[in-house]
Amino acid sequence: MPSSEVTHTSAANPLWNPWCNDRGTFELYRRRCREEAEEMTCAGQAAEILAERVGPGETLLDAGCGGGYYLHALRRRGVPVEYHGLDFTPEMIALAREEMCPRAGLARERFTVGTIEGLDQDYDNILCFNVLTNCPHYGLALEAMLAHARRRVVLRESLGDDLVIRYTPDPYLDEGKRHIRVYHNIYPLAEIVSLMEERGFQVTQVPDRRSGDGVEMVVDLPHYWRILVAERSI
Ligand SMILES: C[S@@+](CC[C@H](N)C(=O)[O-])C[C@H]1O[C@@H](n2cnc3c(N)ncnc32)[C@H](O)[C@@H]1O
Repeated sequence: MPSSEVTHTSAANPLWNPWCNDRGTFELYRRRCREEAEEMTCAGQAAEILAERVGPGETLLDAGCGGGYYLHALRRRGVPVEYHGLDFTPEMIALAREEMCPRAGLARERFTVGTIEGLDQDYDNILCFNVLTNCPHYGLALEAMLAHARRRVVLRESLGDDLVIRYTPDPYLDEGKRHIRVYHNIYPLAEIVSLMEERGFQVTQVPDRRSGDGVEMVVDLPHYWRILVAERSI
């Protein structure tokens, strides 16, 4: 088929993408970039987990990076990684380039618009926090991360015993955009661990500090945030 007949998109469609229709969250992310908002507990914990594991000069992809503010948490703890950010919302990458690049002395190319599912480069570390829970399903994105992580994947998502798909209205979206529904899924922890092991990783669960491995209500729905560290063994 001629390439002119094939459309490849790397950005989410604004018609269904909640992340470009939520001014409140966007401005919170800007304050995090400017270090005007408190550090997220989970960002600090991600940096601590990585600090114990990464060697100097290793690359790290922050998959679903939002404004790229996890870099602050990494730098505060002296984690010596070469940081890259990927997000399928162009507004998020524009925010990261505007706010993070000058503050952190990074070239704008360190932030890319793209989907996790479409990853086509390898990184030593892939960090993915609070992203797949809001995707239609975790499968394709997790497979892509496992295929492209040379050393480890560190994941934080809402995980439980059974698959629960929820696709619900979000009253916090911008006025006029509240017809957009958002996924708030719970994925089977055992299934995710099995997939990681099948792909050659050894998996450790680290207790989530923010939720105490309990339940947290997000948009009035129970979420079960769990952290998995998958280390490549073969
Ligand atoms: C809840 S925010 C989390 C941002 C950041 N990781 C954090 O913990 O604060 C989810 C981000 O992931 C991005 N995202 C969601 N699904 C994605 C996908 N399949 N590929 C790339 N980015 C995605 C969204 O655009 C959004 O910026």
